[in-house]
Amino acid sequence: MYAIPHRDKLSASTVQFLERQPGRLFIAGQWQPSASGKTLVKDDPATGKPFYEAFIGDAEDVDRAVRHARAIFDDLHHPWRRMTPLERERLLHALADRIEADKQTLAELITLENGKPLSAARGEVTSTVNMFRYYAGWPTKIEGDVKPVSIPDRLNYTLREPVGVVGAIIPWNFPLSMIAWKLAPALAAGNVVILKPAEQTPVTAIRFCELVQEAGLPAGVVQLINGYGETAGAALTAHPGVDKIAFTGSTEVGKIILRASAGNVKRVSLELGGKSPHIIFDDADLARAIPTAAYAIFGNAGQSCNAGSRLFVHRRVYEEVVQGVAQRARLIKVGPGFAPESEMGPLVSAEQFERVTRYVQRGIEQGARVRVGGERPAYLPEGYFLAPTIFEAVHDDMDIMREEIFGPVLGVTPFESLEEVAARANDTQYGLAAGIWTRDISRAHRLAAMLRAGTVWINCYSQFDPASPFGGYKQSGFGREMGHEVLEHYTEVKSVWVGLAS
Ligand code: NAI
Ligand code: MG
Repeated sequence: MYAIPHRDKLSASTVQFLERQPGRLFIAGQWQPSASGKTLVKDDPATGKPFYEAFIGDAEDVDRAVRHARAIFDDLHHPWRRMTPLERERLLHALADRIEADKQTLAELITLENGKPLSAARGEVTSTVNMFRYYAGWPTKIEGDVKPVSIPDRLNYTLREPVGVVGAIIPWNFPLSMIAWKLAPALAAGNVVILKPAEQTPVTAIRFCELVQEAGLPAGVVQLINGYGETAGAALTAHPGVDKIAFTGSTEVGKIILRASAGNVKRVSLELGGKSPHIIFDDADLARAIPTAAYAIFGNAGQSCNAGSRLFVHRRVYEEVVQGVAQRARLIKVGPGFAPESEMGPLVSAEQFERVTRYVQRGIEQGARVRVGGERPAYLPEGYFLAPTIFEAVHDDMDIMREEIFGPVLGVTPFESLEEVAARANDTQYGLAAGIWTRDISRAHRLAAMLRAGTVWINCYSQFDPASPFGGYKQSGFGREMGHEVLEHYTEVKSVWVGLAS
């Protein structure tokens, strides 16, 4: 057992949870060690000190979980398969209730393992509750239809059925929300799920699965395999008993998953990286655009797939905007997630800290100019803290303007015209999100149509709602999260023909 960090800040139930180590896998409704007995040790991003040990599964554990999931799904008499839509709705609400009641502990675990400020972690729990409540409304509304076929004496109708066994492979930047984005719709549609969290954030997922159990979901409908991507993730992706992989993470791993899923022609949905353009015109409401542009990149310490990491500012307001965003960046209070005044926490891991600081170095080497930040704040000698960083004098072909950095690093560049900025904004392998600030409505809608991105925010940024679809164009992936759109990825359409001739 490791010493529990920030112990005086934690609620009693969080401490009790942390005392139950090593954290186990959840297979077939049983909490159990991994077959190999291997564990990983998770460190506290605010101090770098180890605090939690979790069992990690590999191919053997994955195989057991998949067999169990198959047994549930393939048994039409299993309670989960016979369950009525209204009963499924009730269970999803019961789970939402448990999550809501456990808000403080879940938030504390998110902050402990991810590092983000506790207020942000609490927001993550709230949006998770909302996600489960929204999808609780769907089992009773997933419907097929009757097709107007032209063959005489034939009736044709469709059924929407669950895809089957779903492997959910998720990242560490929103340890709880990412669970909700996959599991809420997957369960609403009647699937059986195996969750493989990121190795950087195994803890919140364990707590979540305790709540799944308490909420009364049938044993095995949700299983948990903590573990590394290259072992547990790869085994899940390659397993012939898995019908679908729902993945969020890097574009690099998305491509690996696509290839590895070919064996049994798995359904795959991929929510991958981004390099989202945030565009401010000279007629914009700068009093709102400036703080939003700062929040778009420095929120979650830049570790968001939709981070507004390329800021395009009309030349006439360029200096005013850069000055404003830089001023904001200087004022952001960077510190441990448990310090109430902290607005931005550390990066999630030593590896991520090195990755991001390497990009900062490369930006400098390639001739970009640091306007603010670029270093670890002097008053934070330990942990994975990096100051909000803004680069100027950037060119569109620099690495820092082309690659996903996934840290609090912004590149700012001036533009002159709508046509120019549309072309430059689209000149990227990614196509996840974009932001536009202007008071000219025709310009706003014209540009929104021109941008090759799955989400466009006009005079706002980073808005998410369970009802609104989110996902990528180009190498930001395919498939959509949320809305009714995501349910298409968790269902199959069956077309049924009936001969009516007597
Ligand atoms: P990653 O893509 O390696 O990890 C995401 C998930 O995929 C984790 O659960 C991991 O265990 C799993 N995984 C890794 N390799 C796998 C494999 N071969 N087969 C199956 N599953 C596998 O991302 P990582 O290494 O944590 O971060 C590296 C970079 O990726 C970040 O700097 C960022 O640029 C990007 N990223 C983007 C995210 C997004 O939401 N767009 C989320 C996380 C990372
Ligand atoms: Mg990786």
